[in-house]
Amino acid sequence: MNGISIQNVSKSFGKKQALSDISLRIPAGSIFGLIGPSGCGKTTLVKIVCGLLKQNSGQIEILGTELPSLSIAEKTGYMAQSAALYPNLTGRENLSFFGRLYGLTGNELRDRISYVTSLVGLEDDIDIRTENYSGGMNQRLSLATALIHDPAVLILDEPTVGIDPVLRHEIWDELHDLAKKGVTILITTHVMDEAEKCDSLAMLRDGKVLATGSSETLIRKAGAKDSEQAFIAFGTQLSKPHSEDLAEHNKQKGELK
Ligand SMILES: Nc1ncnc2c1ncn2[C@@H]1O[C@H](COP(=O)(O)OP(=O)(O)OP(=O)(O)O)[C@@H](O)[C@H]1O
Ligand SMILES: [Mg+2]
Repeated sequence: MNGISIQNVSKSFGKKQALSDISLRIPAGSIFGLIGPSGCGKTTLVKIVCGLLKQNSGQIEILGTELPSLSIAEKTGYMAQSAALYPNLTGRENLSFFGRLYGLTGNELRDRISYVTSLVGLEDDIDIRTENYSGGMNQRLSLATALIHDPAVLILDEPTVGIDPVLRHEIWDELHDLAKKGVTILITTHVMDEAEKCDSLAMLRDGKVLATGSSETLIRKAGAKDSEQAFIAFGTQLSKPHSEDLAEHNKQKGELK
């Protein structure tokens, strides 16, 4: 398959089962969102898809090649949940460093740096050391580094945390353009209006896939009125088999109607 195929992937950390038998298919040129409560396994799954963590069982195929694969790693852009930048380098130097890691040099490197810098709106601050960046600026530069080598597969772990709504909107427009060009995008988010911008979603809880489909499908499956209510319904539904939780869930469901 041309996009990403995740087959029966499980992962545990000691006794903690972080992922249980996850299977997902992400077509090339689409934006796929992973949603679910904190600790449900989103970061663990994207790290496995990037090759940064090894699953205990199951297979991942990207662009038709089974992981681990160096050639696929070179075609993948990854933005971690916490920014991994060099604080004593400027934004431009960070971009240059990551670009060179992927073999970019000369005019090509300069052009890519200027493209990704303007994409994330950092033109005025690109020559400042990143230790002096705000949280949102760090986040934006981190996204820029994930895009520097024009990857065929883009994996973004909560990329727009700390980014203001105007820039967030622009970044989403760009993600849609990249997807149209054939880039396969896997993204995690807690923001429901972003989830609605994904072509398809998987709702995880306790390391399992509860539901997949478009945001409309998930809303329908949850019997909710919008994505946020669907998220709450899936996130709480039968998660703790206590009567008060069930009562609360049923009450919420009642309120949704
Ligand atoms: N290196 C690790 N060692 C032990 N446990 C881990 C490790 N990494 C993750 N976990 C556990 O695996 C589970 C899933 O964590 P993960 O970071 O994937 O969640 P998440 O869905 O990304 O959460 P959030 O929305 O808060 O980012 C959690 O219970 C977490 O404590
Ligand atoms: Mg996470």
